[in-house]
Amino acid sequence: MELPVRFMKRTIYCGDVREEHVGQEVVLNGWVHRRRDHGGVIFIDLRDRSGLVQVVFAPAEAPEAHALAGQVRSECVLAVRGEVTRRPEGTENPALATGAVEVQARALEILNFAEPPPFSLDEADVQADELIRMKYRYLDLRTARMQRNLHLRHRTIQAVRTFLSREGFWEVHTPILFRPTPEGARDYLVPSRVNPGCFYALPQSPQILKQLLMVAGIDKYFQIAPCLRDEDLRADRQPEHHQIDLEMSFVERDDVLDLAERLYAYIFREVLGYEMSLPRPRISHAEALARYGTDKPDTRFGLELHDISDLAARSRFQVFRAAVDSGGQVKGLCAPGCADYSRKQIDDLTAFAKSHKAGGLVTVALLSDGTYRSPSAKYFTDEEFAAMAERLGARPGDLMLFVADSKPVVAEALDWVRREMGKRLGLIPQGTFDLLWVVDFPLFAWNEEDQRWDAEHHPFCMPHQDDMGYLDTDPGRVRALAYDMVINGWEVASGSIRVHRRDIQEKIFQILGITPEEAERRFGFMLRAFEFGAPPHGGIAPGLDRSVALMAGEESIREVIAFPKTQSAQCLMSGAPSPVDEQQLKEAHIRVELPPEV
Ligand code: AMO
Repeated sequence: MELPVRFMKRTIYCGDVREEHVGQEVVLNGWVHRRRDHGGVIFIDLRDRSGLVQVVFAPAEAPEAHALAGQVRSECVLAVRGEVTRRPEGTENPALATGAVEVQARALEILNFAEPPPFSLDEADVQADELIRMKYRYLDLRTARMQRNLHLRHRTIQAVRTFLSREGFWEVHTPILFRPTPEGARDYLVPSRVNPGCFYALPQSPQILKQLLMVAGIDKYFQIAPCLRDEDLRADRQPEHHQIDLEMSFVERDDVLDLAERLYAYIFREVLGYEMSLPRPRISHAEALARYGTDKPDTRFGLELHDISDLAARSRFQVFRAAVDSGGQVKGLCAPGCADYSRKQIDDLTAFAKSHKAGGLVTVALLSDGTYRSPSAKYFTDEEFAAMAERLGARPGDLMLFVADSKPVVAEALDWVRREMGKRLGLIPQGTFDLLWVVDFPLFAWNEEDQRWDAEHHPFCMPHQDDMGYLDTDPGRVRALAYDMVINGWEVASGSIRVHRRDIQEKIFQILGITPEEAERRFGFMLRAFEFGAPPHGGIAPGLDRSVALMAGEESIREVIAFPKTQSAQCLMSGAPSPVDEQQLKEAHIRVELPPEV
């Protein structure tokens, strides 16, 4: 059959047809979502970006169109002309936006045929395996879920542009082919054909460039910036992601926080109709770790951690004492109403804690009669139990959960246990977005493996005014003017006030073990720029993908990225990355040497 080249052009989107159009003739362009043959009359649900509408092909009214409709299958591409009518009483579909009406076909053009899709595109059906969805991403993107997500992403970007433009920000593009940016990941490298042996690094972020834009007097910059990082991937990490990257001159920390939280309040209102009260709470990095065991706490629910190390140090329980004696901690949380947890439930929870590094989980139930029950009961007096209960705020009927270990292990394990209990107890409210600022991050993090200081964020964060003196004496105590925005337990954004003075920057490089020669080689161009009148400046970069995933209620950022990569950084659809021709390698002056196991 010959397919038409010219075709009937759409007058309305499928999903927009309503009762107000009854009696009108419309032309629809779209895909066959479903076709049903009801003894003569054929029903086709025709779908486009906006949704779907039922089209009726009756043999008597439109014999030619009806005959053609008999030939189409799912995902064929059609142009249909017909009249909008009210659906006969009793056949309306209230679940569908177009469910009160249907279109009586008068003419049909088949614009293209389609192979049967490898998985169902109907939202009501079971979700296909993600690897298949990624292989046929262009089909997956036809599903209502993915179209909703991409639309949400589009609206988020529009809201960002509107808000920031109104606030006086200029959108400036920065290069993709650049030099390494130190954001803590490995660089993706691009060989230069015309400069043999030289490589560009794809930007891990526009960090250096946005600071140079401040030196350049741009004052307020933003960009929906692609960032490329060769790092281990997870549900919230892709090798390429986008940031709402921004930078401001002549600002202090609170100016940036104020701007960013107003931006997020605006986005949530515009895109979701969700009202976020301002200003948002702020807690210090140290307090976040103490109360939640993590620097990105989900603050939609309580179950806060409490330190009982002082009590543990005095107990007869060897596990507790040993942890404290070796410089560790004993901390716990109170699970309300869980005193009657069965042996199996406790074993499950213990296994869960162990799977997150804890050596074990010590449980103490405060029974409704005021007595205590614990597998470790013989090591404790009732007074000791009572002191623990008081510290945790436990009441009769509650279960206390403790982990004794090194500080990082206690924090990590209890963070997991806390979130797990929050889920199990149904304490996490859905549909709320709890934006929290975590401030006063340490400037440096001690790298135990390499026995040196690393930058906690990146090396351009300004030290806290009060801590300048510790740069020489105790770098671990220096707080940075750095901050993270956290929503519902996701680190959504990071930023800081930057170092704009060369002497402080050099000091930081020195602590990081970056020699003056290396600093000159890697960042000389930046340090030089700072000698020409760098203004005080600072900024922040919210992750666009994480923000949209949160708003969409998705657990993985892959669901809000049109063409994402797998955990092993592959594009299953195109087969990237792939070997290239010998000729291309030669032109790029590259010889490939494979590791022995490949
Ligand atoms: P940072 O490296 O913390 O800061 O990144 C900022 C935000 O970007 C998002 N993000 C990611 N999203 C998806 N996949 C990834 N691999 C990924 N890596 C980061 C997160 C994160 O909070 N230049 C600084 C910002 C600044 O100081 O202004 C920077 O890039 O949401």
